[in-house]
Amino acid sequence: MKPMNKCGRDIRVGVIYERVWHGKDKAMRKKIPAGTTRLGMYIDGFDTSWFKTPFLRHRFEIKSQDQLEKIMESGVAYVYIDTEKGLDVLEEEARKESVELPAKVKVQKLPTIAEEKAYTDYVKAVDDLLQIDKLSLVEATVVDFDLFVKTDMNIVPIALTRNKEGDAVITKELLTATGELMINRADSEKYRDYLRRAAKTDSSAQSQVNKNMLIKENAKLLVHDLFNNPGNPAKMEACKDTVENVITSIMDTKGLITNLFTINKYDFYIYTHSVNVSVFSVATALAMGIQSEGELFAIGMGSLLHDIGMSTIPPEVLHKPFERLTDFEIGLMRGHVYEGLDIVKLYKGITPETLLPLVEHHENLMGTGYPMGLTGDKLHVSGRIISITNTYDTLTTSRPGFKSITPYEALAHLRDHKDLYDADILKEFITVLGKSSQ
Ligand SMILES: [Fe+2]
Repeated sequence: MKPMNKCGRDIRVGVIYERVWHGKDKAMRKKIPAGTTRLGMYIDGFDTSWFKTPFLRHRFEIKSQDQLEKIMESGVAYVYIDTEKGLDVLEEEARKESVELPAKVKVQKLPTIAEEKAYTDYVKAVDDLLQIDKLSLVEATVVDFDLFVKTDMNIVPIALTRNKEGDAVITKELLTATGELMINRADSEKYRDYLRRAAKTDSSAQSQVNKNMLIKENAKLLVHDLFNNPGNPAKMEACKDTVENVITSIMDTKGLITNLFTINKYDFYIYTHSVNVSVFSVATALAMGIQSEGELFAIGMGSLLHDIGMSTIPPEVLHKPFERLTDFEIGLMRGHVYEGLDIVKLYKGITPETLLPLVEHHENLMGTGYPMGLTGDKLHVSGRIISITNTYDTLTTSRPGFKSITPYEALAHLRDHKDLYDADILKEFITVLGKSSQ
């Protein structure tokens, strides 16, 4: 008899684990000019963001003239095809490809040298900084670290106001400044001390909310450390404590996640995203009635580590707008799931169940996700949860080349794709978000 979890789903994790481990079934993915597509081809993606095409799904077989025309009229220069699932490009078209661009195709504007230089400088600068939550700073308190404000790709040091003793103090103006607050990576321990001091002196009725802020900011620092030193056993152990703190906090507040996740995200940082997804996933699991400590922990920990494989990707690729990624770079990005497994498997304290959110966070019910294209019941409950929470957090976060959509729009997007996401789980996730915004 198959081992089942509470929701009646197969939890033979070893099977999935093995399949992922050996990375079988690599598709024959080929980039071709959109103008050379034909009936019978299997589209495996567009060389542009999802929002810039008229298609709800980016993986499908071209079965009608109407679909072909839509591709031509979309303005997308290139598409990806899977030649194992559908027809290949005609030989004569392949020959033409090198000399002639297909009709009706707009040529993508390449960045100028100045733009490229500005972007490279930005990546270098942002990689040395850490995004912190403005709400973690208390007016009139003293700080012993530098602060920076970031708006789009501009990063400016803040001239801190000094008191009579010469200490730098947090002012109202600073807390209401437009943009994102950042600190030097090297100052993360000083920031940790500041948070500890603030939590100790806090005796207000808001203490749980402030405690959540401490848990969240500490979790971000920790995941950031882990990304710079992936697989470090001490950091992994600390992640376990963090996940336990998150679970306890959500249980104590009956599902309230206020301040446990970052709301105003002007840019994408993996550490912020990882903590958000972990908190959303645990809260959703609890709302679904999952009470087993082991199951909750596996969902929380696996979600916290779900993108750890991104640590193997060079920052200039990681921060690059999707539209400008080359074929090779897209392959690198998609490989983060296997890379993540390779990192996490080195740590002995991880159970196979903990790997499920990591393995399945880019899968969906239709089987059009990656790396395995799992369908329906083959997707574990933790995979169903994280496929929702990961997509939501990604869609609501801006990054160079991608303007975020509002929480309402992101939830509408998830609701509109019932074939991809588990509708019952989505309902619970919406309840969780509703509670925290009250
Ligand atoms: Fe991912």
